[in-house]
Amino acid sequence: MFEARHNMDAPTTTSADDGTPGEGGGWFTPRKPPKGPEDERITTSPEAPENREAREVAAAVAPDIRRASQAPTAPEPREAPQAPEPQAPGPQAPGPPQAAQHRVPPPQAQSTAPPISVQQAKPEGKVSADALLVQRTMAEIEPVADKVTSYFYALLFTRHPDLRALFPAAMDTQRDRILKALLTAAEHIDHTDVLVAYLKNLGRGHRKYGTQAEHYPAVGECLIGSLSRYASATWNEETEAAWVRTYTTISQIMIDAAAEDELRAPAWWFAEVVSHDLRTPDIAVVTVRPDQPYPFLAGQYTSLETPWWPRVWRHYSFASAPRPDGLLSFHVKAVPAGWVSNALVHHARPGDILRLGPATGSMTVDHTTDSGLLCLGGGTGIAPIKALVEDVAEHGRRRPVEVFYGARTDHDLYDIDTMLRLQQSHPWLAVRPIVDQRAQLPDAVREYGPWNEYDAYLSGPPGMIRNGVDALRDIGIPEGRIRHDSVEELVASD
Ligand SMILES: Cc1cc2nc3c(=O)[nH]c(=O)nc-3n(C[C@H](O)[C@H](O)[C@H](O)COP(=O)(O)OP(=O)(O)OC[C@H]3O[C@@H](n4cnc5c(N)ncnc54)[C@H](O)[C@@H]3O)c2cc1C
Ligand code: HEM
Repeated sequence: MFEARHNMDAPTTTSADDGTPGEGGGWFTPRKPPKGPEDERITTSPEAPENREAREVAAAVAPDIRRASQAPTAPEPREAPQAPEPQAPGPQAPGPPQAAQHRVPPPQAQSTAPPISVQQAKPEGKVSADALLVQRTMAEIEPVADKVTSYFYALLFTRHPDLRALFPAAMDTQRDRILKALLTAAEHIDHTDVLVAYLKNLGRGHRKYGTQAEHYPAVGECLIGSLSRYASATWNEETEAAWVRTYTTISQIMIDAAAEDELRAPAWWFAEVVSHDLRTPDIAVVTVRPDQPYPFLAGQYTSLETPWWPRVWRHYSFASAPRPDGLLSFHVKAVPAGWVSNALVHHARPGDILRLGPATGSMTVDHTTDSGLLCLGGGTGIAPIKALVEDVAEHGRRRPVEVFYGARTDHDLYDIDTMLRLQQSHPWLAVRPIVDQRAQLPDAVREYGPWNEYDAYLSGPPGMIRNGVDALRDIGIPEGRIRHDSVEELVASD
């Protein structure tokens, strides 16, 4: 059932301060746990979904409110760079949004049951009933996914205007990421391990946005509101209950991971630019000093926010293995009309303060084996490859490392001197520059080999990764031995 809401200023589904659901009692409205001493963690976990009605499971999502008052503060802009203008002021609301009114009894008492294990959700090898219902919704909304996204944000920002401040001012380019991730996760809820690892990482990464546990019910309600509107042909109580269970499971994993991370790491790091080296007219090596020790592994990447585009985060790979001086370097290419990359290449100067999220990515070296490393780096994708080479060198094991360094022109091989110097110092390392105009990276790799004793690492533009992975599979390298950054994420930035 829908109810028109015209008052844009009035949040209607937030919890009342005493912890009872506010007016309009949303499905995901969590109970606030009693306030404890400042540094006492208060987190409880939901009951197993199979034992309770959907509303009870949803009610059991317990927020950790300990740090609810800590909102992130972006560094003050120093000067406005000549960066491209944002193209749209925000999401396009499809007229006055109608909010779904969920008439469900208030949440029950919190459970202290262990956290949901997604594994429990289905018998081995079978698709769970919930996943089937979720997939049915997905099939229906697929042709109108863009409308679902618009409506989702319109609902979210109308019902919860306070949440608008967590998002970038203009959200045209990548605004579908939350919904895409949610829908993908919901669809793959049965594929346990990878999904759980992904969601934990996502939950930890959300700390830098200022996301709090109590925000999750708000997002969940708006998701359901949006899906129920656009999947009306297949929507019924059963489907709704399946979505509530699924969203509750997903968000609980994220909330728990964030709470755990809070015990050992900051939500973000400030990092001061200490050097800026323009290597070509559009590629800069930017080196920063984080304000606190920054843990990461060679081959990983971070998310980075500049003072010129508050709350606009982009990923950049570490260009070195961890260094004793704690400095971090990035190779950044300014892309046409790119906000963050142009700011970093053309405006950042020593003294500027950036923000970094936590390190992430699985393109790391397995030091338990002696297999060789076959590395394909295209453009600034050479940065993490260089980090991997340094990592192998530091571990002192002589394992063969073969680097194919691809670029469009000789001029674009901006880091070839460094790579050749590394080759001179390490007899186990071979570096082969491949220029597009003369040869294609995958063809060049096919010419050498055999590669059956090698693990493969690819970094660069999505097209290069796709072609590279195809070529490597063709020459018999099993999928499990091929590592690269998420092509989906790269496509989003393509
Ligand atoms: C895991 C990962 C690691 C990454 N590591 C690096 C790195 O080490 N160095 C680096 O420079 N970048 C890296 N990127 C890309 C980076 O995250 C940004 O996407 C890129 O800098 C563009 O951001 P922007 O804000 O400047 O452009 P946006 O404002 O996001 O984009 C503006 C316009 O430029 C287009 N565009 C985006 N990227 C490109 C491109 N590569 N070529 C042409 N047009 C483009 C967009 O489609 C859009 O139309 C990485 C991305 C991922 C996912
Ligand atoms: C199950 C719930 C959620 C999922 C699956 C999800 C997923 C995502 C994904 C995939 C991104 C893209 C960037 C990244 O990887 O960090 C993202 C960004 C973001 N999310 Fe979430 N999210 C969820 C809940 C929330 C909640 C509750 C909030 C708080 C209101 C929130 C706020 C944000 C913000 C502010 C961004 C950055 C937006 C941008 O850069 O345009 N998310 N989310």
